[in-house]
Amino acid sequence: MDRFVEITEKIRAFTQASVKKSRYEHSVRVAEMCARICRFYRLDSEKGYLAGVGHDMCKDFPVEKMIELAKKDGNPITDFEMKKPSLLHGRAAAVMMKEEFGISDEEILEAVAYHTSGKSGMCDLTKALFVADKIEPCRPQATPKYIEQKFSLSFDGMVYSVLKENYNYLTKKGYEVFPGTEGLLEEYKVEGVE
Ligand SMILES: [Fe+2]
Ligand SMILES: [Fe+2]
Repeated sequence: MDRFVEITEKIRAFTQASVKKSRYEHSVRVAEMCARICRFYRLDSEKGYLAGVGHDMCKDFPVEKMIELAKKDGNPITDFEMKKPSLLHGRAAAVMMKEEFGISDEEILEAVAYHTSGKSGMCDLTKALFVADKIEPCRPQATPKYIEQKFSLSFDGMVYSVLKENYNYLTKKGYEVFPGTEGLLEEYKVEGVE
């Protein structure tokens, strides 16, 4: 038990020192929501809390630093990411967790790296963090009733409904969505879930 207590505290403290106050508070809410999702759907809630509390720890870094870190994960920086380098804050955080904090758990690293967009073939922890980031209780739509409704779904249903809502929100606002998002909607489609 409590395999991650010390490292979680280090990541929490680093996050608190590295991002603005409102973002730190968001990080704690995401950690709590992610742990709640993990408990409810029988995933590892300690890993969920850790991934949640650190997921945005690089988001207030200078863009050059984010790019430099993200490059170290061995994947190319896509044109889409280069146009909007702040999208690299997840990949940057995963690199820091691995290289500077010694975290080797692949699920935690994947969850943090892909929390903004999700990923084809993503693990359950990545799904849980993606959802937690979007439905933490200070998001505008996230009333207690809304959150309760999400928890009334199966895990896959919850994931699909949040992927879909996120896609609808971004396209309605006129934002470009990650290439591959339509593919994710196909991949994770659950019949009967809006
Ligand atoms: Fe983020
Ligand atoms: Fe976030």
